[in-house]
Amino acid sequence: MKALLLSEYNKLDVTNEMPRPLPGPGEVLIRIAACGICGSDVHGYDGSSGRRIPPLVMGHEAAGIVAEVGDGVRRFAVGDRVTFDSTVYCGECEYCRTGDVNLCDNRQVVGVSCGDYRRHGAFAEYVVVPERIVYRLPDELAFTEAAMLEAVSVALHAVRVAALSGGETALVIGAGMIGLLTLQAARARGCSRVFVADIDPSRLKLARDMGADEVMDASGQALIAEVHRLTGGKGVDVVLEAVGRNETIAGSIDSVRKGGTVVLIGNITPEVKLPLQKVVSRQIRLQGTAASSGEYPEAIELMRTGAIRVGPLITAVAPLEDGPRWFERLHRGEPNLMKVVLTPTTTGAAAS
Ligand SMILES: NC(=O)c1ccc[n+]([C@@H]2O[C@H](COP(=O)([O-])OP(=O)(O)OC[C@H]3O[C@@H](n4cnc5c(N)ncnc54)[C@H](O)[C@@H]3O)[C@@H](O)[C@H]2O)c1
Ligand SMILES: [Zn+2]
Ligand SMILES: [Zn+2]
Repeated sequence: MKALLLSEYNKLDVTNEMPRPLPGPGEVLIRIAACGICGSDVHGYDGSSGRRIPPLVMGHEAAGIVAEVGDGVRRFAVGDRVTFDSTVYCGECEYCRTGDVNLCDNRQVVGVSCGDYRRHGAFAEYVVVPERIVYRLPDELAFTEAAMLEAVSVALHAVRVAALSGGETALVIGAGMIGLLTLQAARARGCSRVFVADIDPSRLKLARDMGADEVMDASGQALIAEVHRLTGGKGVDVVLEAVGRNETIAGSIDSVRKGGTVVLIGNITPEVKLPLQKVVSRQIRLQGTAASSGEYPEAIELMRTGAIRVGPLITAVAPLEDGPRWFERLHRGEPNLMKVVLTPTTTGAAAS
């Protein structure tokens, strides 16, 4: 089959020589119609993250059509339009049994190789995944948009772990892919006012288009001052931090009200300085969030109804053959690129 193979770091080859995988018991073979390029793929491509050890077919944000089912698969049949969770969880460990599948002890990620395992992903005509991570797509949802469901689920999970009760004022820091989806997730989950901060005006324009009540082209003290002005000096109930740098973590802690929650989504740097006494004395809850656990059905429904829109976040839809060129552009950090979706197959219904 055709695939985009990371044959060595910084080198992607379009090959027709990849063996087509076979679905084992409980597995589903999916013909891939669309697969998004994730930031983590770009960081894996050059070897910096150590999580895409070549040779590997990357790609975990995908949608397509069931092409074959293995023994014992009951919920899906050939021809079903589907997507799948990027996390392959075991379904049996202590965490899986209580529904925290993102914390699975035996967790693997589709399209990752990291020394412990190698699991080829969806920048290919076909991929095999276990039935338990597969979800059916409504006909209204185009495959290219469905490829964004993984990121939408991340955003919904981040808002879920904030444990909101409705009516909160929220600040999203970082209007990248994840921040802009988190903004929409916070609205969908009942926040009354959502502010968005970034230092890139083009991102803030998107935030405004996607429903932000206020946008702030500010960081550091200027941001904190603006948040306090808008909240009568109190601070917001919840900050959803989608960057992960010293200045944005400090800004989060100074922008949240006493007793409020900061959800830590961004982790662009591995370590940050923590203003410990502020966190302790103002009794702030710092809450991490990892991937998603069970948000796919809600993500599908919110996209189907238009409550969450991903169209404006898709920069380009391109054939798999253009993959090497798009990886190069994303890796160079070319401005104004958001999501690039590759389409390994385009025949028949897969083109929709
Ligand atoms: N927790 C999870 O499960 C999870 C899942 C996916 C991504 N992430 C993380 O979320 C973060 C964001 O991902 P993304 O895909 O949206 O990245 P992105 O590059 O699209 O967006 C980052 C945004 O942060 C902005 N920014 C940078 N410095 C800033 C500052 N000082 N103040 C305000 N804004 C600033 C940039 O202008 C950009 O718009 C990354 O760290 C990523 O690793 C976490
Ligand atoms: Zn991803
Ligand atoms: Zn498990």
